[in-house]
Amino acid sequence: MKNIVVLVSGGGTNLQALIDAQKRGELRGGKISCVISSRPDAYALVRARENDIPTRVIPRKEYHDNASYSKALHEALYQEYADLIVLAGFMTILDKSIINAYRNRIINVHPSLIPSFCGDGFYGLHVHEKALEKGVKLTGATVHFVNEICDGGPIILQKAVEVKNGDTPEILQKRVMEQAEWKILPEAVSLFCQDRIKVTNGIAYITE
Ligand code: GAR
Repeated sequence: MKNIVVLVSGGGTNLQALIDAQKRGELRGGKISCVISSRPDAYALVRARENDIPTRVIPRKEYHDNASYSKALHEALYQEYADLIVLAGFMTILDKSIINAYRNRIINVHPSLIPSFCGDGFYGLHVHEKALEKGVKLTGATVHFVNEICDGGPIILQKAVEVKNGDTPEILQKRVMEQAEWKILPEAVSLFCQDRIKVTNGIAYITE
């Protein structure tokens, strides 16, 4: 059984999708063993506690730079025997030491079809604001491995979602979450835990 450590900063609806999938027996080969939050007030912590999942808080505010924050995080991941790290609305960029130590073992969910609307500054609601500004008719979500390039790692799964007339960023965000993120994140986690994702030359392949 692989230990899944979920990193969060906010509401935690993607964490909830993982918890629900686990309850339905759909995270085959894995178990959410710990939730780590960068913010003490993240509602995601409540969701974890309500489901008897151990939690840790490593407040980003208490560290002056990314390197010292990553060091503390790295230590915690080691202590938790993390096999897979899931970034589920985690709003801090990881530094090289963690990315190297957990190469192709860190999964992120991003609320657009990468390579559109991604990279520095594209997070949360901003992503949907930009998609609406551009007038795209299709957007969606991507689950990918994390590498040194922001939102640039091997793509595992993607799902398209329609943009509709009159959408606000909030309405579009909700549709993307419901129709894409909450489905493909648990699916990718389950595939990983069954050793069914192989990365060759920077491309992720799903195996039978
Ligand atoms: C989600 O839409 C997730 O894709 C996004 O933040 C939201 C977190 O919601 N992540 C990013 O933008 C990362 N670049 P949640 O806390 O309810 O899961």
